[in-house]
Amino acid sequence: MHSSTLLAAAAVGASVAYASCNGPFPMPLCKGVKIEDASIVELQQWLTEGQLTSQDLVECYLARIEKTNEYLHSISEVNPDALDIAAQMDAERASGEIRGPLHGIPFLVKDNIYTDDKHNTSEGTLVLLGGKYSSEATIVTKLRAAGGVLLGHGTMSEAADHRASSNYASGYSSRTGQTRNPYNLTQSTAGSSSGPVVAVRSNQVAIAIGTETYGSLVHPAAQLGLYTIKSTPGLMSRHGIVTGSYWHDTPGPLARSMKDVSIMLDIMVGIDRYDNLTAEAIGHEPPNGYAAEVVDKQALRGMKLGLPWNPYWSTVAHINSGDNRQEYEEMIQQLKDAGVEIYNITSNAALSQIVSPYGQGHPADIAPEHNHAIAFNTLLAVGYGEWLQNWTFPEDDERYGMSSLAEMAEWNDAHNETTGALGNGTWWWDTKTGQSFYDAGVATNGTMGTAFWTAFGWGRFTARQAIDTLHRYVEEDGTVVELDGVVMPNGRDGNRGNACAPLPSYAGYPIAAVPTGADAYATPYGLCIYGKQYGEAKLVRVASAMEDLFQWNEHPKYFNYDTAQGPWQASFPGYTCSESSLKSQHCAP
Ligand SMILES: *[C@@H]1O[C@H](CO)[C@@H](O)[C@H](O)[C@H]1NC(C)=O
Ligand SMILES: *[C@@H]1O[C@H](CO)[C@@H](O)[C@H](O)[C@H]1NC(C)=O
Ligand SMILES: *[C@@H]1O[C@H](CO)[C@@H](O)[C@H](O)[C@H]1NC(C)=O
Ligand SMILES: *[C@@H]1O[C@H](CO)[C@@H](O)[C@H](O)[C@H]1NC(C)=O
Ligand SMILES: *[C@@H]1O[C@H](CO)[C@@H](O)[C@H](O)[C@H]1NC(C)=O
Ligand SMILES: *[C@@H]1O[C@H](CO)[C@@H](O)[C@H](O)[C@H]1NC(C)=O
Ligand SMILES: *[C@@H]1O[C@H](CO)[C@@H](O)[C@H](O)[C@H]1NC(C)=O
Ligand SMILES: *[C@@H]1O[C@H](CO)[C@@H](O)[C@H](O)[C@H]1NC(C)=O
Repeated sequence: MHSSTLLAAAAVGASVAYASCNGPFPMPLCKGVKIEDASIVELQQWLTEGQLTSQDLVECYLARIEKTNEYLHSISEVNPDALDIAAQMDAERASGEIRGPLHGIPFLVKDNIYTDDKHNTSEGTLVLLGGKYSSEATIVTKLRAAGGVLLGHGTMSEAADHRASSNYASGYSSRTGQTRNPYNLTQSTAGSSSGPVVAVRSNQVAIAIGTETYGSLVHPAAQLGLYTIKSTPGLMSRHGIVTGSYWHDTPGPLARSMKDVSIMLDIMVGIDRYDNLTAEAIGHEPPNGYAAEVVDKQALRGMKLGLPWNPYWSTVAHINSGDNRQEYEEMIQQLKDAGVEIYNITSNAALSQIVSPYGQGHPADIAPEHNHAIAFNTLLAVGYGEWLQNWTFPEDDERYGMSSLAEMAEWNDAHNETTGALGNGTWWWDTKTGQSFYDAGVATNGTMGTAFWTAFGWGRFTARQAIDTLHRYVEEDGTVVELDGVVMPNGRDGNRGNACAPLPSYAGYPIAAVPTGADAYATPYGLCIYGKQYGEAKLVRVASAMEDLFQWNEHPKYFNYDTAQGPWQASFPGYTCSESSLKSQHCAP
């Protein structure tokens, strides 16, 4: 934290009136303006009308961070230059220059997105903390050029949940501790874009950028009640974002509306010489941009949506817990009442081959050579190796010259006391399994040989076949109906029985998330929609129409803000997760 800036900013916040009384942290007015839950368009209007300056916004958000961050652990560092950048944007505005819809609006990025300035980027780890990359993440450069004010970095699950694959808590990092869910601080934030999601939800900022390899946008978006799009990898440059997996990673906007998500997409998409996968996305953007695809609920009339019933709508854990099934089925009814044609997909052969019926991971009987973990483990080792080529530590640092995941894992082992083996080591990172994912990556030697291509190729082919065929509903008489999207329950606790991440991750296909309700532990959940490759424009249409129908926006009440300790607590009643089921990343209902 840059405490002098924060304290000065806190004084600004202290003297103003409160806009609402939700729990112990009501959101203060900002210079008399109710910026709580404001959209990009509303913020831009106040800036245009002169009711607020960009500097006001930065000060109000910094005051909010100062007030709430010790409970939420959602911000790892604020940008010491934020107020100066805001002043520059205000000066440009005064001289009549408006760069676009983001001009003067603060945004936050996840801690694995490198910003070339005075504050650290470290992927939530201690092992990377203090290093610098060769150049700024392309998407950050674009957001800055569009007038965005970089407010800081959000916390994250350490190494984007790529450090350990069991015995860890999502949202935890050895750098910043456990990120808390403002709806119920004993409950999970899901991973790994936890900080940015919590920050937007608790009004520490209006918009943020996260990343996803396997669930890291859509899971926390569900758990915190936000909108996002996890895109086809390559739609946006991944340059300057710590690599988890070349073939699966993608950044994505997190916001309180599909409109805000789309405005950010429009700024971030496009080709980048530093990321070859962006060349393949050329020509797949909608002609007038993504924001032009935002529609209202009238667009639901005649829309064709599929529900994969078996597996998924009948089997995933969240829908079978508490009263949730009734709530989910009421949502289906609401969609039907709004004119959606619902197609009940009772089986899909490709889907059943590759995903566990309970949500996460593979089916138990998958052929060992097809396990996608082989691809993830290999790509992690390859990715860090490439990342470290352009990541430089100071010459007097013991990590100077560090060049491989193996060396990172060794450094972690040698620094147990600072890398999260807290107390007796049974919390968060178990000392023995505290970096099981790193260790599995190291064991591949980063060799992209036959084992890698077999697992990756089969997984990508089968998952694409599953999503493509889910979109082609075959009637009894053989007529094929092309669907506009495939809808899944996006239940809480992400990595414990949720169907949103696996198939699209394996396939490299997009997903949208829409919040729709809260369950008996006071935390949100929602729906996610699978799209086809580069189907983001259609996803914006489907998700924005649903947004207008459901209009869910319940404020967090910060339950247990003063008592929550340790890692987040037990799963929602109805899940039966055993150690062995969690190791294969799923729970039985
Ligand atoms: C960046 O991290 C270093 C520790 O490596 C710390 O000393 C410094 O204060 C951090 N910078 C900011 C702006 O917080
Ligand atoms: C992009 O592809 C070209 C041609 O195959 C290759 O030379 C280059 O190293 C690649 N660049 C990156 C950043 O992967
Ligand atoms: C889909 O079909 C299954 C089994 O045939 C049935 O149990 C379920 O209620 C159906 N769902 C909808 C939304 O029609
Ligand atoms: C890595 O750094 C080298 C040397 O500065 C530069 O030429 C290269 O473009 C960088 N690669 C990436 C992917 O940023
Ligand atoms: C380890 O520490 C935790 C938290 O302090 C405590 O709940 C647990 O009982 C301890 N376990 C052992 C084996 O001492
Ligand atoms: C780190 O953990 C390993 C495995 O539990 C243990 O053998 C080693 O002594 C620990 N190192 C430190 C510095 O605590
Ligand atoms: C990695 O390298 C070690 C040592 O050379 C070797 O024993 C092992 O078989 C290799 N593993 C793979 C997956 O290539
Ligand atoms: C918060 O979560 C705890 C479980 O960790 C649960 O017992 C409690 O009822 C939840 N609070 C609310 C208000 O739902």
